[in-house]
Amino acid sequence: MINRELLSKLTSKATPYYFYDTELLRKTIQEIKTESNKYGYQVHYALKANTHDGVVKEIVAAGFGADCVSGNEVSYAHSMGIPSERIAFAGVGKTDHEILTALRVGIFSFNCESIPEIEVINDLAAQEGVVAPIAIRINPDVDPKTHEYITTGLKDNKFGINHWDFDVVAERLKSLDNIELTGIHFHVGSQIMDMTVFEQLSLKINKIAAWFKENDFHLHHINVGGGLGINYEAPVEAPVADFKGYFKAFHDHIHLEEGQELHFELGRSVVAQCGHLISKVLYVKQGLETQFMILDAGMTELIRPALYGAHHDISVLTSDLSREKYDVVGPVCESSDVFAKGVMLPKSKRGDIVAIHSSGAYGQTMASSYNMRDLVKGYTTEEL
Ligand code: LLP
Repeated sequence: MINRELLSKLTSKATPYYFYDTELLRKTIQEIKTESNKYGYQVHYALKANTHDGVVKEIVAAGFGADCVSGNEVSYAHSMGIPSERIAFAGVGKTDHEILTALRVGIFSFNCESIPEIEVINDLAAQEGVVAPIAIRINPDVDPKTHEYITTGLKDNKFGINHWDFDVVAERLKSLDNIELTGIHFHVGSQIMDMTVFEQLSLKINKIAAWFKENDFHLHHINVGGGLGINYEAPVEAPVADFKGYFKAFHDHIHLEEGQELHFELGRSVVAQCGHLISKVLYVKQGLETQFMILDAGMTELIRPALYGAHHDISVLTSDLSREKYDVVGPVCESSDVFAKGVMLPKSKRGDIVAIHSSGAYGQTMASSYNMRDLVKGYTTEEL
């Protein structure tokens, strides 16, 4: 929670910036370790959610692996000290350069999304004189019941290989000498709050894994991706996601072979609640019927509300006056540059400091410099 000492530090920094609460991050990491260790599960952190060094250091110290989606993320994970045998590399469009980077790092697994991609990895691995460990990403056609832009596991999505292609894929895999199938990979979507989605996924996986067994493939691991949602509506009351229910949903429904590992790729649930976008009120402007609170942060710093209509709770840290109705907006020249419409907030004036909560995941990593704005910075509690 924000005490006087922290508030004075937060208000003395140039805005806008991200503040990452290290204490909450550590508490969250500890909860993940406790709950996943119960079943011996392996956790990779999905770097795309947040790559602030101070945040990543905490995650590396916890011993998690990394889930990467670009060659740069693979190099970064490696440079931050994540062991190469704990780095997975996913994505539908890996370039030759990125594949070579990952081959040279010697990663745990290429999560592959198509036959042409597998063929290219095989050729490049042959050129490097190595055998590449691959997992095929399978589209299980499970509805994650989340926003359509972050739904990935339906049969019409661009991700993964569909079950009707298995025979062709199996045949091709057996004919390639420089790849080895070590696992199967899934990820059906993000911000999933309904645990029955993970139960359904587990049941589908059981059937798919049985098919691979019948076809003489020994799968060293099953990777179920990420997707666990967080409570954007109540960040104070529910700062830590339901890791207990999440891992248990898999434990109760998935069937693993003797010695087979279960891997996870968690992003949002690790870092979302520890992050706050801190901004300053530039102007309060009275419109025809609306009172606008114009901030010095906008969609360039946090694009989720503009892109997905996402809700983020907002607090005014420097006012406790009676509440008024505001549209909270940014300075960017786009009508979608709105954080919230018609929210009740303490009466504010120019210079007040505002925190936009639950923004530790897909906040700073999705920032841009549109309008030639400065790229937003981030600070952990220790770095403030
Ligand atoms: N694994 C794969 C293959 C993924 O595509 C993703 C996220 C993850 C793991 C991590 O999922 P998480 O645990 O964070 O749900 N920008 C969007 C979210 C995009 C998620 C993309 N994939 C947002 O701000 O809501």
